[in-house]
Amino acid sequence: MELTYATYLHLDQLLSLQQPRSHPEEHDELLFIVSHQAYELWFKLQLHELDKIKRDFRDNHLYGAIGTFKRVRTIMKVMVEQVDILETLTPMSFNSFRDRLEHASGFQSSQFREFEFVLGYKRAKMLEYQQQNTPAYEQLVRRLHEPSVVDSFYDFLEQHGVTIPAELRGRDATLPNIPNETVEEGILRLYKSQPHLEVLFELMTDFDEGFQEWRYRHIKLVERTIGSKHGTGGSLGVEFLKQSLFHPIFPDLWAIRHKL
Ligand code: HEM
Repeated sequence: MELTYATYLHLDQLLSLQQPRSHPEEHDELLFIVSHQAYELWFKLQLHELDKIKRDFRDNHLYGAIGTFKRVRTIMKVMVEQVDILETLTPMSFNSFRDRLEHASGFQSSQFREFEFVLGYKRAKMLEYQQQNTPAYEQLVRRLHEPSVVDSFYDFLEQHGVTIPAELRGRDATLPNIPNETVEEGILRLYKSQPHLEVLFELMTDFDEGFQEWRYRHIKLVERTIGSKHGTGGSLGVEFLKQSLFHPIFPDLWAIRHKL
């Protein structure tokens, strides 16, 4: 059979995957489903691109990393803007089908945890909330043990003459990346001595800021939709989400800005 737009994109399958659980169907449940599915697709692409960035860093491929950071930063902006759409859902409208979600929550998104893990924000405890013995779980465990984008950034910096302390090199990969003054001094030197690297560092900062913006927008979305209620995932809701609100992915890039 000749390839068509529909067969190439598997549209029959894709468009049959939006299945509201409310009966009679609540009008806004489709918006809720489509929006979450769209985010899962963006997560999938972000993971794919971040894997490339890790390779670019390891291979000292500056322009590859710049091009791809430009892309992940732009996708992140779209992810932030998309919150606007769900904010057209009113608390009463969400309540009309919220019970049908049972304990399902974005909290259980394994791709979101992968996203955090690959970026070095590793919290092994988060595995407890994932369904075990599934391919997604195995993948997440792999991510937990793999070097993060920050570890690959160290490889890149080292190739530009930055000393990476042994304690960072030999660190337990399942723990979160943490800021380090020696690395910060090295980045500061590069900012001043190799101005073309500034383009990369600024794009990384854009991406990092974008992720924090997403967290902020998501919290406000939650607050306006369910207020102080607990989440369907069983957490305290807004209070739980605030714990990660200002968590930077590249703290070393933020730490030196007053010295630039
Ligand atoms: C009406 C819309 C939404 C509400 C009321 C809502 C509510 C919540 C709440 C209360 C939590 C805390 C965990 C829990 O106990 O459930 C949470 C976590 C989460 N939600 Fe949403 N959410 C909404 C939309 C979205 C969308 C569109 C996404 C996109 C994928 C999303 C992704 C997540 C993620 C990834 C977490 C875990 C965050 C973390 O661990 O830091 N949520 N959500």
